[in-house]
Amino acid sequence: MFEPVPSHTSVSLGTQKVRVAVLVSGNGSNLQSIIDHIEEGKLNASIACVISNREDAFALERAKKHQLPSFYLNHRSFSDRRSFDAAVLEIVREHSAELVVLAGFNRILSTVLLDAFPLAILNIHPALLPAFPGNHAQRLALQHGVKIAGCTVHFVDPGTDTGPIIAQAAVPVLDGDTEETLSRRILREEHRLYPGVIRLFTEGRIRVEGRRVFISPGEQDSSEYLENPRF
Ligand code: GRF
Repeated sequence: MFEPVPSHTSVSLGTQKVRVAVLVSGNGSNLQSIIDHIEEGKLNASIACVISNREDAFALERAKKHQLPSFYLNHRSFSDRRSFDAAVLEIVREHSAELVVLAGFNRILSTVLLDAFPLAILNIHPALLPAFPGNHAQRLALQHGVKIAGCTVHFVDPGTDTGPIIAQAAVPVLDGDTEETLSRRILREEHRLYPGVIRLFTEGRIRVEGRRVFISPGEQDSSEYLENPRF
């Protein structure tokens, strides 16, 4: 079941520079693409802090290289999910972040964070949700035999990859694909899609009605269909 989401909620921050907290657990290529978009002047945002629950996350190295405030919080040293989230929230607040972006962060959020940032926590997932939520999405897509895969940026709710969908990008699954080649193709799209959605957020163009998210003014792909194979 999907969690209920407030209707007719308009997310609008105007045109000010939005301070973003990025939560990571791994390589951090999505973090890197956000950093690059900001540094290239394509995103009216700044990274307020980077928080990892893994000490060896390469994402932390990336943050340090760009002189971003970065933190390691070991979730195992907290008694439960809520107290870990409270520690994350403290750092996020100390750095005055207005938007929280999960970029390969491998933890489910409790209401401690969700209630503090209503409709202001984003996640990216390497599948066309609601297909293949959770881990190993690309492997499961291949095993299932889908012909079109992709990635999704969505608001975070208490479920696993279940929140309202903001944007999706599709890629073909090719006959010779392995988990690695498909993941790479999807990741390339993630690196475009995530900064794109963050830009929409900074421009106050995201409106949520129940589970449906609308972008105004909208730039929609009006192609009649995507197909694979091509006929
Ligand atoms: C991405 O595939 C993302 O969709 C998923 O975790 C992966 C993170 O990759 N949530 P990276 O750490 O950003 O390189």
